[in-house]
Amino acid sequence: MEKWVLASRPEGTPVLENFRLEEAATPEPQDGEIVVATDFLSLDPYMRGRMDDVKSYAPSVNLGDVMTGQGVGNVVASRDPKFKEGDLVTGMTGWATHAALSGAEVRHISPEVPPTTALGVLGMPGFTAWAAMHTIGEPKEGETFVTAAATGPVGSMAAQIAKRKGLRTIAVAGGANKCDLATNTFGFDAAFDHRAHDVKSLRGALADAAPNGVDIYFENVGGKVLHATLPLMNVAGRIPVIGTIAWYSGVDTSGPDMLPSVWRATLVKRLRIQGLIIFDHWHLFRQFIEEMAEPVARGEVAYVEDITQGLDQMPAAFLSLLSGGNTGKAIVAI
Ligand SMILES: NC(=O)c1ccc[n+]([C@@H]2O[C@H](COP(=O)([O-])OP(=O)(O)OC[C@H]3O[C@@H](n4cnc5c(N)ncnc54)[C@H](OP(=O)(O)O)[C@@H]3O)[C@@H](O)[C@H]2O)c1
Repeated sequence: MEKWVLASRPEGTPVLENFRLEEAATPEPQDGEIVVATDFLSLDPYMRGRMDDVKSYAPSVNLGDVMTGQGVGNVVASRDPKFKEGDLVTGMTGWATHAALSGAEVRHISPEVPPTTALGVLGMPGFTAWAAMHTIGEPKEGETFVTAAATGPVGSMAAQIAKRKGLRTIAVAGGANKCDLATNTFGFDAAFDHRAHDVKSLRGALADAAPNGVDIYFENVGGKVLHATLPLMNVAGRIPVIGTIAWYSGVDTSGPDMLPSVWRATLVKRLRIQGLIIFDHWHLFRQFIEEMAEPVARGEVAYVEDITQGLDQMPAAFLSLLSGGNTGKAIVAI
């Protein structure tokens, strides 16, 4: 088997040298374990945080350990009666061709939808969007919704949930192609390229597209988009804080200190700003699948996947994701 391990910790933006490909013996299952041969591995922004040696909501990856991550694949050996050879499953396999996992931490996936959907639209990212919209966003017909990273698996699902509830949806995305994808495929009413705007002109464009103000700012990135959107929030607006990818490799301290404006807007607009880590919501996963699996299977919920071929490409595809090089859910086919 082959696996990517964390070779060194990044200083700021990660580089290819932070990862090392190693060969190892294919593991044997212990009692209660299964061995999975992976077909697809997920790449997600949270992996950047696991490369740092800091206390967070989840432990860091130790130097020399396999990079953390979710995969889908087939069971090739089982010592758990719930699984047999050939079963299609998903679990935290890490960046590897094979993984020995406790049966308790693995689940079967439906053969009725492509297996990659378990990593994106019907997996952790889609579920994050759904949970955040249900528990914090609380969309109401006629309101206006804004998100950045709008064509990714989280932003595109959050926006489609908003659209199904009758909201006006506005995208911020990187580049003209992603803006087209946002409006043509994900049904956004308007889309703006954050790379083509500074804070002031992005705010102006968003204000024109949201004549009644913004009720839900779905916080996926932080940085310039937050700065542009905050003054447009309506009284009693909601900001589910899901990700701050603009700051994952360091905060740009050359700009203005945003804390006074965030604090003042929170007070004056009576905003509800609440963080969400999906770990706290797994008890709702079954409800999410019951609600969303059929609309996805029927093609009523759009999703786009960006599939890179080959385990050897994992680090490069991951660095690309961090800088917006992916279009849709980032996945590597093994
Ligand atoms: N809280 C949780 O439990 C949880 C769970 C899952 C994901 N998340 C977070 O949700 C966010 C979206 O995740 P995802 O999986 O859907 O990722 P994604 O959209 O597939 O990929 C990340 C995207 O972020 C955008 N981006 C990167 N740097 C940016 C910047 N400086 N300014 C604006 N946009 C930037 C890029 O899109 P553009 O090219 O369009 O700018 C990039 O494609 C991430 O912040 C992630 O960490 C949180």
